Amino acid sequence: MVKDLFRRKSLNKLFEEAKSDDHGLKRHLGAWNLTFLGVGAVIGAGIFVLTGQAAAQYAGPGIVISFIISGLACAFAGLCYAEFSAMIPISGSAYTYSYATLGELLAWIIGWDLILEYLFAASTVAVGWSGYVVSFLQDFNINISPQFSAATGTVLVNVPEMGWKPETAQLAQSLIEKGINIASLDHVTALINVPAMIIIGAIALLLVIGIKESTNFNNLMVIAKLGVIILFIAIGFFFVKYANWTPFIPKNTGVPGHFGWSGILRGAGVIFFAYIGFDAVSTAAQETKNPQRDMPIGIMGSLGISTILYILVAIVLTGIVSYTALNVADPIAVGVNAMGQSMFWLRPIIKLAAIAGLSSVILVMLMGQPRIFFSMSKDGLLPPIFSKVHPKFKTPYVSTIMTSFVAMIIAGTLPISILGELVSIGTLLAFAIVCISIIVLRKTKPDIPRPFKTPWVPVIPILGALVCFIQMASLPLDTWLRLAVWMLIGFVIYFTYGIKHSHVKKERNKEFSENE
Ligand code: ALA
Repeated sequence: MVKDLFRRKSLNKLFEEAKSDDHGLKRHLGAWNLTFLGVGAVIGAGIFVLTGQAAAQYAGPGIVISFIISGLACAFAGLCYAEFSAMIPISGSAYTYSYATLGELLAWIIGWDLILEYLFAASTVAVGWSGYVVSFLQDFNINISPQFSAATGTVLVNVPEMGWKPETAQLAQSLIEKGINIASLDHVTALINVPAMIIIGAIALLLVIGIKESTNFNNLMVIAKLGVIILFIAIGFFFVKYANWTPFIPKNTGVPGHFGWSGILRGAGVIFFAYIGFDAVSTAAQETKNPQRDMPIGIMGSLGISTILYILVAIVLTGIVSYTALNVADPIAVGVNAMGQSMFWLRPIIKLAAIAGLSSVILVMLMGQPRIFFSMSKDGLLPPIFSKVHPKFKTPYVSTIMTSFVAMIIAGTLPISILGELVSIGTLLAFAIVCISIIVLRKTKPDIPRPFKTPWVPVIPILGALVCFIQMASLPLDTWLRLAVWMLIGFVIYFTYGIKHSHVKKERNKEFSENE
């Protein structure tokens, strides 16, 4: 029994599967599409929402250094993903890599854990999307009822000149400072977040219709968001005031994590979310024409583009406006405000770019998840229905619909704060295991062809895993408890279904009885 848990999938079998086109998916994608998919998945709520809050609360202008640190940590993991995805181009991504190296139980743990990354990230970003759409429409005097645009049970208050905001102790305090008693304002309790559910439903439809249609839409969204981000950087440079950068690293307040170097590290942990998604490129391996060459380009290319843009946005944003004014949900729009009235035309454009950007993140995340289920089901760890491919559209439509349905419920009912940290812890765990797997495979199978090689092994993978564990350790206990509960549910499913239906197990048994 214990031996069963460590049974591995043979690399030869994986190479056969990777080469074969029997899986039913269509090979449509090249290096550009993959890079765009990566940028589509990466640039989103992190830069459009979190940057300002991290600068205002933890790092000040030093958030620029936080972006460099977090980007470097992701580059370590990215290089490991690049090696694996070129060597074993299977849509299961980290799940498949660990099946070949660390055995079935760990593969299951990663597969189950990746749900936290992809499915939960799609829901988290859909909640951010809803916030931006509501605010964009409000600018044109179209008001969506607060009861239908926030998580179930969220208490909202109607703040003068700000509109409906979630009731928090921080908000109450800031209103007291303005002489307003929060109890005197209108309150409602939200029922469900309808816009967040609608965007997931619409994207699911697109994903079912086809990989080509989905990537075309993604390309369009990516061009829109990149164009506007570059515009913001180019115009913003002319409005930078040197005074806003001094001091570049504000002095620590005495509380660890509040400014100073510890604040920069805390900031790096928070904005890690902004980098999540480049690994989703690897889930499109079986729809890529030349994965050996194009996977590393897609992964490292998208990570490189995003890192450079993040650093530039952080430099410009903290230069235009004092970091103390950035603790808002739309920091880039606040940056535009600070440029003066002549630049107000840029505001709706920024919001539209954010809406486009967040749409592409949801799309790529909802594309990645069903493909991981697809691989797990092909291996027998999930029921066969999860690998059903649509006869006409050639997409894993059943798992896409199921994933999207669950993502819709989560996005409609849960608040963004709970979701975001779960996404981070799930992703960090996956990254760490991918880094460790690289070292294991270099030792156990040194001679298999590696179209792309992670440099400086084992230094880079060790550093990658270490940084991931340190960042995981800095997350709150609640998040760890949620991870534990999630894993417990996963174990129950594995020990009641997966372990019995595993194809590797069946093949082993067959070989065994043939040799008898
Ligand atoms: N990196 C993605 C975002 O920032 C998840 O929205």
